[in-house]
Amino acid sequence: SQSDQRPLQNPKNKLKRGSLTVLILIHIFIDPFCILLQIYSRPYYIYYLFFPFSREFLLCLEICSVVRPSLLPENINHDIVTEDVSFEKQKGYPDSVGKGDKKMELLERNAPCWCGSGKKYKKCHEAFDEKLKMYENKGVLIPTHDIIKTPSQIEKIKESAKINIAVLDYVAEHIQAGITTQEIDDWVYKITTEAGAIPAPLDYEGYPKSVCTSINEQVCHGIPSEDIVLQEGDIINVDVSTILDGYFSDSSRMFCIGEVSPEKQRLVDITKECVEKGLAQVKPWGFLGDMSQAVYDHAHANGYSVVREIGGHGVGLEFHEDPWVGYIGKAGTGMLLVPGMIFTIEPMINMGGPEIFVDDSDGWTVYTEDGKPSAQWEIMVLVTEEGTEVLAY
Ligand code: MF3
Ligand code: CO
Repeated sequence: SQSDQRPLQNPKNKLKRGSLTVLILIHIFIDPFCILLQIYSRPYYIYYLFFPFSREFLLCLEICSVVRPSLLPENINHDIVTEDVSFEKQKGYPDSVGKGDKKMELLERNAPCWCGSGKKYKKCHEAFDEKLKMYENKGVLIPTHDIIKTPSQIEKIKESAKINIAVLDYVAEHIQAGITTQEIDDWVYKITTEAGAIPAPLDYEGYPKSVCTSINEQVCHGIPSEDIVLQEGDIINVDVSTILDGYFSDSSRMFCIGEVSPEKQRLVDITKECVEKGLAQVKPWGFLGDMSQAVYDHAHANGYSVVREIGGHGVGLEFHEDPWVGYIGKAGTGMLLVPGMIFTIEPMINMGGPEIFVDDSDGWTVYTEDGKPSAQWEIMVLVTEEGTEVLAY
């Protein structure tokens, strides 16, 4: 497949020294008047002493950055490359990754903030947005406001995630050789609905069951059935997703049924490590590609391959939101990560090649092309000011 790698140019690089001089001269003559005007026209002039991220300060920074790019808050790779998006992604998933063409707009300073805090924009997210804007101007793909969750939304999503965890804990305690995958589906439906929630997969795009159960060479989206009996030596992914009061959560775990072969056990363990290594790379003002590369590198270092077509996703207000979360991106590329974003890390790692196909007969179950086993763990991660919080696992 041919890759769609579009280096985004930073237009400021083209700013000539001459125009910079003109800009500085204009400032030398105009600024004193502006400052006087500000002092007399509004009581908030003191604000500029305490809020260094005011527009004027940012403007200075931007001018400096033309002369000395290293003065920027972070040394950004200007040749941002989006992920290889040439392959077709799974149905129902957002596909806007890589299309950073709609520019963010700053609000009027006294308008109510977009986050719903009830505060004025200038007292809430204005500085945050100006920082985002600066990254956007550098050619970075920035998150849109609708995928940045507010504290009250996060609280509700956490409640949903608690149920998701409890369901998987129950599965972990009861799963064993001899049960059918339909029984797992029954447990998931019962526990979820008794907690006042709804299993998100049920009726999702026509999906017939409450949970996905994918065994051995099944990569994901396996449909529970009375005819499928768990055997000693199987490895199975149980993928649970919950809707509580309209808030979504999503996570999955691997289970080894009885004694499994050392090869399968290693695949399961390394896949879990891939998720952990990916998670360790997630940080506010980092890039999604930092995580992707960590996952990819660890899988390949262990002789495995990574499924390309199916990935993780933003989650919380919808089942599948932006960004789409692949594992073939390079560090320093992909969407900028900011506090309040929630997404899943759920790589599918294959013992053999990365190729997959969808079962024609049910339209859902995904298999490895070469029939070798595949494993997947899924966690749901919140980006915080300090780092991350795992909401569901
Ligand atoms: N948890 C899977 C995901 O990550 C959910 C698939 S639900 C299905 O998206 F209905 F699409 F199977
Ligand atoms: Co998911």
